[in-house]
Amino acid sequence: MTKLAPVLSAHWDEKDSFTLAGYKRHGGYTASAKALAMDPDAVIQLVKDSGLRGRGGAGFPTGMKWGFIPQGDNKDHYLVVNADESEPGTCKDTPLLMANPHVLIEGCIIACHAIRAKHAFIYIRGEVTHVVRRVNQAIEDAYAAGILGNGIDVVLHIGAGAYICGEETALLDSLEGFRGQPRLRPPFPAIAGLYARPTVVNNVESIASVPAIVNNGADWYQSMGTEKSKGTTLYSLS
Ligand SMILES: Cc1cc2nc3c(=O)[nH]c(=O)nc-3n(C[C@H](O)[C@H](O)[C@H](O)COP(=O)(O)O)c2cc1C
Repeated sequence: MTKLAPVLSAHWDEKDSFTLAGYKRHGGYTASAKALAMDPDAVIQLVKDSGLRGRGGAGFPTGMKWGFIPQGDNKDHYLVVNADESEPGTCKDTPLLMANPHVLIEGCIIACHAIRAKHAFIYIRGEVTHVVRRVNQAIEDAYAAGILGNGIDVVLHIGAGAYICGEETALLDSLEGFRGQPRLRPPFPAIAGLYARPTVVNNVESIASVPAIVNNGADWYQSMGTEKSKGTTLYSLS
């Protein structure tokens, strides 16, 4: 693979890219099988070594964020995927979810394993009905195929459409059924997030980047990108 070859968007031009069959044709769900056979801490280390930084705006190192989740605490842990994408002019998570929702589901499985979580929540803003339908279908197909439901569940939550609900703690309030307003910190979500349990909140693209890292390795990911931000990213031109 050359450094200019697309990674996340590699097969978006195929008419069934969003289906389970279309995803599996290009190695879909081989990364989660590989990751589930690994020690969770080794998965976190791999993501740290890759240099992946969050694609939700602040660029926080993803592996480090996962490493903040306390281990052996006998509490439920949660993964929350931020698919609110309401920044004016921003349009990358929507096309990603339309073209390849399964890569996000696979990323959720890997991230849940790494942080010892059994539940992932995908928070999508309600206006993007086409995205909601597509992700919902992909989740149903993943359950029907036995990919989900074997220890890891994914719940789709439809937001009412408020820009502030893209902020991670407002999103958590909204997910809990309250009006979305940012919480005071500390405590940070890694300590007391969703339902006051240790929670990782990551952007769609961050989580969707993980399967390729598991399959191709940290060095491969490090070989792309800039000095301070490694790997690939999606750009929206508007
Ligand atoms: C007002 C506001 C709106 C935000 N909207 C989004 C959003 O739509 N999507 C997103 O992923 N992050 C958004 N963020 C950033 C999140 O709070 C959070 O940092 C991010 O989801 C973490 O994911 P990452 O580590 O994968 O980047 C927003 C932040 C603020 C302050």
